Amino acid sequence: MKIDGTPYRSVWVDSLDGWSVHIIDQTKLPWAVDILRLATLADAAHAIRSMQVRGAPLIGAVAAYGLALALREDAGTHAMERDAVLLKETRPTAVNLAWAIDRMLAALRPLPQPERVAAAYVEAGRIADEDVAQCEAIGRNGLKLIQDLAATKGRRINILTHCNAGWLATVDWGTALAPIYMAHDSGIDVHVWVDETRPRNQGAFLTAFELGKHGVPHTVIVDNAGGHLMQHGAVDMVIVGTDRVTRTGDVANKIGTYLKALAAHDNNVPFWVALPSTTIDWTVRDGVNEIPIEERSATEVTTITGRALDGSLATIRVVPTASHAANPAFDVTPARLVTGLITERGCCDASEPGLLALFPEHA
Ligand code: MRU
Repeated sequence: MKIDGTPYRSVWVDSLDGWSVHIIDQTKLPWAVDILRLATLADAAHAIRSMQVRGAPLIGAVAAYGLALALREDAGTHAMERDAVLLKETRPTAVNLAWAIDRMLAALRPLPQPERVAAAYVEAGRIADEDVAQCEAIGRNGLKLIQDLAATKGRRINILTHCNAGWLATVDWGTALAPIYMAHDSGIDVHVWVDETRPRNQGAFLTAFELGKHGVPHTVIVDNAGGHLMQHGAVDMVIVGTDRVTRTGDVANKIGTYLKALAAHDNNVPFWVALPSTTIDWTVRDGVNEIPIEERSATEVTTITGRALDGSLATIRVVPTASHAANPAFDVTPARLVTGLITERGCCDASEPGLLALFPEHA
């Protein structure tokens, strides 16, 4: 996707040195487009932990490159296994991260030490390229849903989304936003309600940035506005991304997603979840009780960072100093509240039979 006419992926290998890894620092968006260079395992782990990169598919791809960087430092088996664990532990909820590291280890373990670094870059590159292809296919499959809705309604289509599941959260295209970009590009009149997504404001900062750069009409709303808009017919469908889907169709996503699903259910608004198959955890059946939910720093709740009126960046406290704050970063929407899943192989019910019809190799 493009920023001011320049095409970007959200992670790429330096074309001159052939090994260092570049990312867009998402903690600086939308105020600045800062490109960071990751040269070590520690750089990659910090980028994931501090959310310089975030979004389930992207942290998987960056972790894969992080293991390649780690192998440049020590390609021995003991170090490789240790560094794989370190990377896996950087963020617990998005299963793409563990999936990517396991895939890297499966490719690297059988190899003699001198061959591991080159092979790691090849495998990480495949993971990144496959993510782009999967997200593009998600876009095409979701586009059909928006086309059908546009044909039925015969007017502007209003889509609500939560957090950021756009190209910044993947290697390119995005998951929830890919169908929206394709609908907009094909001439359908789409408008996006963007949940601000406190505490880190991925909606207000990242989704609004992406949509704005692509020229997609959008309006940022506070997280609590969605139910009201649905009651008044202002939302035709919800599309969100996800960090982990169980084999039974339960959906973990950014905190607040569950409340949007409840409101959508109460108002007969279709609630779709877009995901590449790398986000499915085939080992888990009960999302509410089995998916680990990341608890992040209370500082994310008690402070907010933005641009002051004089143009400088400022972090201010928004909670009394004596108050405690809690910060669960994700919640789980039970499958019964999900209209359907949009995957790279097509759309299906949020259920085990639905998923297995598209992915019979996991039966
Ligand atoms: O904490 P984040 O910003 O990494 O959370 C991201 C989300 O919840 C996204 O909706 C999800 O990863 C889908 S990404 C295509």
